[in-house]
Amino acid sequence: MSESHEASLRDKQSLDMQTVEAAYARWAPVYDLLFAALLRPGRRAVASIASRTDSRILDAGVGTGLELPMFKRGTRVFGVDLSEPMLRRAADRTRRQRLIQVAGLARMDATRLAFADATFTCVVAPYMLTVVPDPEATLDELARVVRPGGEIILVNHVSSQDTALSALESWLGRYVASTLGWRPQFPWAVIGDWIEARADMRLIERRLVPPFGLFTLTRIERTAAFARSGPQPSGVGETIEHTAG
Ligand SMILES: C[S@@+](CC[C@H](N)C(=O)[O-])C[C@H]1O[C@@H](n2cnc3c(N)ncnc32)[C@H](O)[C@@H]1O
Repeated sequence: MSESHEASLRDKQSLDMQTVEAAYARWAPVYDLLFAALLRPGRRAVASIASRTDSRILDAGVGTGLELPMFKRGTRVFGVDLSEPMLRRAADRTRRQRLIQVAGLARMDATRLAFADATFTCVVAPYMLTVVPDPEATLDELARVVRPGGEIILVNHVSSQDTALSALESWLGRYVASTLGWRPQFPWAVIGDWIEARADMRLIERRLVPPFGLFTLTRIERTAAFARSGPQPSGVGETIEHTAG
């Protein structure tokens, strides 16, 4: 395991479910004001790729649902999030804008999804992986619910190679990650090592997205070979409330 990957594992200790929930209860009222425009390019890129076919899409960490209007009508999008206050805003947006592509929204932990294996043609997670306490367990669970031939599409900050910036990210990771509710230091190895360890995953694209190339879009295909890992949740599919239509 690389040194930077070890650092990310150490930072796991500074984020746990309660910390993340508490942080997003604080962010929810101001989230759209602060992050709607800043993070729009990555959301648009994700939605445009995911909307290529008449997909059944899982949006993991849907937040206030800023990306929901960007999915093509004709897709079926299920949004899940740990934070009730963030989800309430996503539900309001869905109703207000009559987003018929939104098939359901539910409070769910992305490491224990109540969906059957291979439910979705595409799983997207915009700006989510640096926020979850356990990124590898989250990736395992996203992989479980995507069909062979389907894709996982991520957008998140990946740590800088610049040593000064990387030291600052590491410091922030140790001292303020729990207040912010996200991990400023997130080495590529977290995703890269995970892909390498899975016989059924293939990196198909990795590119920077605006603003200033601060974020990385990653497309991972689930190939036909199937390597199941980790415990399986007991809940299955269709537990989601219908919020639109
Ligand atoms: C930075 S926000 C991104 C929201 C939205 N995708 C966007 O682009 O604005 C990250 C979201 O991930 C959610 N989250 C964090 N950990 C989670 C988990 N284990 N399961 C589900 N959602 C989680 C947070 O509650 C938060 O709403």
